[in-house]
Amino acid sequence: MSHEAEHDKTPEMAVDFMQDDHEEAHRLLDRIVESLAASTGNESPGLRKDLRNFIEHTRAHFNREESLMKEIDFPPFPVHKQEHDLRLEELVSCLDDLDAGAVGLDDVRELFMGRFLPWYRRHCATMDQATANFAEAHQKGKE
Ligand SMILES: [Fe+2]
Ligand SMILES: [Fe+2]
Repeated sequence: MSHEAEHDKTPEMAVDFMQDDHEEAHRLLDRIVESLAASTGNESPGLRKDLRNFIEHTRAHFNREESLMKEIDFPPFPVHKQEHDLRLEELVSCLDDLDAGAVGLDDVRELFMGRFLPWYRRHCATMDQATANFAEAHQKGKE
């Protein structure tokens, strides 16, 4: 089960911090997938901490990508940022709702495995890849 998320590694990024952040995100995501898999009936004790760690990492990562996009005047910046904002908000609300007892583990599973993960993979392969390629070309143009 823990290898499920490992099957599709995020694509190689031309920007070092993006590559490193995505690899770290992968490790954190694997933990959440494991915690969710272990949470049959009772919630795995590490689940909320794992979710919080991932949210923190993701917030910092999105900020780094957004700074880069501003620096290089990446034209689709608003679209890329909007995707970040929407998905991060969704994760934060989900954790808040879990803390408040308003949603259960099945809802978290559905949001995370059913919606967030597929989006995340697509996002890395499209938006992030385009951003990294643009940044690389921008950098080469300055050399
Ligand atoms: Fe990214
Ligand atoms: Fe991104």
